[in-house]
Amino acid sequence: EIQAVIFDLDGVITDTAKYHYEAWKQLAEELGIHFDLEFNEQLKGIDRMASLEKILSALPDGGAAFTLEQKQEWAERKNNNYKRLIQTVDKSEILPGILDLFHDLEYAGIPIGLASASRNAGTLLRQLKVESYIHVIADPENVAHGKPAPDIFLKAAEELGVDPHYCVGIEDAEAGVQAIKSAGMFAVGVGDAEILSKADYIVPETSKLSLSDIKQHMAGR
Ligand code: BG6
Ligand code: MG
Repeated sequence: EIQAVIFDLDGVITDTAKYHYEAWKQLAEELGIHFDLEFNEQLKGIDRMASLEKILSALPDGGAAFTLEQKQEWAERKNNNYKRLIQTVDKSEILPGILDLFHDLEYAGIPIGLASASRNAGTLLRQLKVESYIHVIADPENVAHGKPAPDIFLKAAEELGVDPHYCVGIEDAEAGVQAIKSAGMFAVGVGDAEILSKADYIVPETSKLSLSDIKQHMAGR
């Protein structure tokens, strides 16, 4: 029944969500904006500029005084923080259970797609040495709307040549789960059941992901 499984990257394949958090926190502090894990939760899955806008909206004027050039400079500064933090990422940072799932999918002949909002996804896949498992990487530059819009998941399905209804999407972010659901796919959430409550099936951590469990839950939808 499953035609493809489409993965998010940050927070699902690898724990880079913590590096995005750290990189934003460094920037927010420079701007004198309080930034904590709860705030960060809203940024998961959201693209770089939209994330910056959310951070600036914490300022008294909502960031209205800043020019686009200044905003682009800050977004770039955050990305430089992030690139510094991910420099040493290697395959030891693949989250538990992910390689087993890749192998099970490969064995079952189910193709894998990537639907990440990150412009750094290609670099990370290379550093993690998992490129060979992934058949299609949907390019966030080529979609009109970021998550929670369904665009990037639909793009991955289209490039894989599969029907979204028979696709599984795996996400750690609320915006990501929404994107999967809007794409008409079966949503697997990894993490907090309250935050990811819109998912069709939730596991607390990647080590609990299994193809047979996903199949079973999907059959019962
Ligand atoms: C998502 C992350 O995967 O990619 C977000 O969850 C991040 O936190 C987004 O903002 C964009 O990433 P990048 O690397 O292009 O700034
Ligand atoms: Mg994520």
